[in-house]
Amino acid sequence: MVRETTVGVENLIQPLFITEKASPRTPINSMPGIFRFSSKSVLKEVEELLKVGISTIALFPDTPIEKRTEDGREAHSPNGLTQQTIKRIKDAFPEICIMADVALDPFTTHGHDGLLGKNQEVLNDQTLEVLSMQASSLAQAGADIVAPSDMMDGRIGVIRNALEQGGFKNTIILSYCIKFASSLYAPFREGVGSGSTLKKKDKKGYQINPHNINEIFIEADLDINEGADILMVKPGLPYLDILSKLREHTNLPLAAYHTSGEYSMQKTAINNGFIPEDTIYEILLSFRRAGANIVVSYFSKEFAKNHRFI
Ligand code: PBG
Repeated sequence: MVRETTVGVENLIQPLFITEKASPRTPINSMPGIFRFSSKSVLKEVEELLKVGISTIALFPDTPIEKRTEDGREAHSPNGLTQQTIKRIKDAFPEICIMADVALDPFTTHGHDGLLGKNQEVLNDQTLEVLSMQASSLAQAGADIVAPSDMMDGRIGVIRNALEQGGFKNTIILSYCIKFASSLYAPFREGVGSGSTLKKKDKKGYQINPHNINEIFIEADLDINEGADILMVKPGLPYLDILSKLREHTNLPLAAYHTSGEYSMQKTAINNGFIPEDTIYEILLSFRRAGANIVVSYFSKEFAKNHRFI
């Protein structure tokens, strides 16, 4: 009765990696228990998620290497892996809510989220056009939420405009608004194969500097004014202070991304018996206490299957 915060399946989004490979599931070495699903096996996974009460998924494609190009044009192909998978899932389970990432890193030969110039610098403004094409093609395929994770300036406005023009007035924009340049994304990059294309380069030119706090309010105000529906903070646990500050700044719904690196650390410790499974509950709850409405977590399914109140 005195509980001030709760966490339940209604707050959770399950990320799913997808592949064009035929084998039902291919493991991701740095993420124990997480797999890339084939076009067939992803349907079974979605069915299982719906059964345990998870109603929203986020799709991440491991684009075949031969379809990655300098300009990442596969990102907006109507026949792209993500676009096709969205259609197939929606045909089978119209009730599922699908979120799709807007960024070029799984589609480029260099692993960056945007287009590159002559000196290998990321070209912010030229990238916006491609991102808006990608967002429209995802909405066209049936995505309920498009989630720009690229961190180019001005992208929310351009994407909002493209969605309005294309007649996708109900598509939600969840902005990866506060995304820090973090090393916690490393296992994810194995999942979508961008670790090997990015190599030793980093994304410090467009993701937020982890030393900063005030900058988050500038980023948030830009996205709010450009028409974002939901703002996200990422990574999760090391940035709960940021989440809580943003909660005081805006009344928009907030999401937190419990990233791949956090998952790997916690899952490895659980698998080894170093920490009990109950830790998952406590961690997911902490995001809610800090102010998140929504938590994107690789633990979502496991939590939904085994969750108990502690
Ligand atoms: C791609 C993207 C990343 C994540 C989500 N979308 C990685 C990156 O920016 O390199 C990270 C997710 C995770 O670590 O779980 N732009």
